[in-house]
Amino acid sequence: MAFRNPMKSLRVLTGITTSGTPHLGNYVGAIRPSVQASRRPEVQSFYFLADYHALIKVGEPERIQRSTLEIAATWLAAGLDPNRVTFYRQSDIPEIPELTWFLTCMAGKGLLNRAHAYKAQVDKNLAAGVDSDNEVSAGLFMYPVLMAADILMFRAHQVPVGRDQIQHIEMARDMAASFNHLYGPHLVLPEAAIEENVATLPGLDGRKMSKSYDNTIALFAPPQVLRKQIAAMVTDSRKPGEPKSTEGSALFEIYRAFASAEETRAMAQAYAQGIAWADAKQLLFERIEGEIAPMRQTYEQLMADPGRLEDILRAGADKARQIATPFIQELRQAVGLRSLRQAGARPTPAAGNAKISLPSLKQYRHDDGKFYFKLLDGEGQLLLQSLAFDSPRQAGELVARLKQGDASVLESHADRLEPASDAAHLAQALLSLRQAAEGTANSVAQALDKAARHPNKDL
Ligand code: TRP
Repeated sequence: MAFRNPMKSLRVLTGITTSGTPHLGNYVGAIRPSVQASRRPEVQSFYFLADYHALIKVGEPERIQRSTLEIAATWLAAGLDPNRVTFYRQSDIPEIPELTWFLTCMAGKGLLNRAHAYKAQVDKNLAAGVDSDNEVSAGLFMYPVLMAADILMFRAHQVPVGRDQIQHIEMARDMAASFNHLYGPHLVLPEAAIEENVATLPGLDGRKMSKSYDNTIALFAPPQVLRKQIAAMVTDSRKPGEPKSTEGSALFEIYRAFASAEETRAMAQAYAQGIAWADAKQLLFERIEGEIAPMRQTYEQLMADPGRLEDILRAGADKARQIATPFIQELRQAVGLRSLRQAGARPTPAAGNAKISLPSLKQYRHDDGKFYFKLLDGEGQLLLQSLAFDSPRQAGELVARLKQGDASVLESHADRLEPASDAAHLAQALLSLRQAAEGTANSVAQALDKAARHPNKDL
């Protein structure tokens, strides 16, 4: 993480594939803890609907749309506050597929060959005696690259994921490191954040609750359906009055995920005292319903008003693109997709030509007694103008960061700056400042980064 700014909050990013209807397992394992985490003051959270990813598995347009609606409504009903986090739809951010291509050019094919989801299909094919690439789309193969673009686009530091996704984060790190090695330190190397004490919920049949086992309990099904599904849960054949074991009881596990420690103890005692399964199921139903019912009401209101959800997602996309648009400009510059009008054909200072004049920052005081700064390119053209600051120190801090080429100032202090008239030119200027500032420090950081990675680890 060569240029993680300690002043800035921790960026956490999570994607949710829009291929199904949220169930209780998703709620307990992902939605509830994520919504809680999004309230931490030091965290800047990004939540998005991974609808491009959904296309890899789902070929039914109505299902994609329906699932997007349901998942958006679910997260909001569960308390995600779109004013506080950045909540958007992947396909509203055209910069993501563009970054996907840049990363495609970085990703080793051999690395992608080792991706679990792809490998699982290949293994299945081999076991069935059919061609190893049977039913393998290039989309499935490229899944980790698209996911890396999701993460790297927003310079996420942490990505909370289940264990099955750790490999994808490692791959994103790998692609980011390759990119940085070739083009300079633009991308933040993300880390997987594994929630150790988040419950995986068992499903109706006792196996892990999962769509692929068809054993899920829908999160916002009407109460009668919830009651029926709970009634259908597999238990053992012990009669009322016979002591029951909490060990391996799916019913108990689900109860625990919704109950306080005290309630859980009381339930364990009821098991020991031989509570009838029907009664235990009734308690479970009441406990879940108690938590879900208020959210269900919001959920239903949102589902009845898709236009409102659309507006919320659009606003989220605008917010996300305030980061993505300048950043992809920076990356386009970095890889050499540049305007021919720019002085880009000239060698960079890093290439040994020190005569090029760097962009410069000027801090000054105006007649109004306030403090300002501006950024000029090497030819003296204005690229960025600040608004007024009361103290020279405030202005000075930003100047210092900009001198290092820290482009994150543009979004973190957008309200202190006049809108840039030429974002691409500005990105180029900050890039050359950063390259100049980091100069040799760069190569050291990269060497350390490389040492910290595990290039040969079997993913
Ligand atoms: N692959 C993730 C899943 O199936 C969804 C996802 C897509 C994602 N892009 C992401 C998760 C980026 C975290 C970060 O659960």
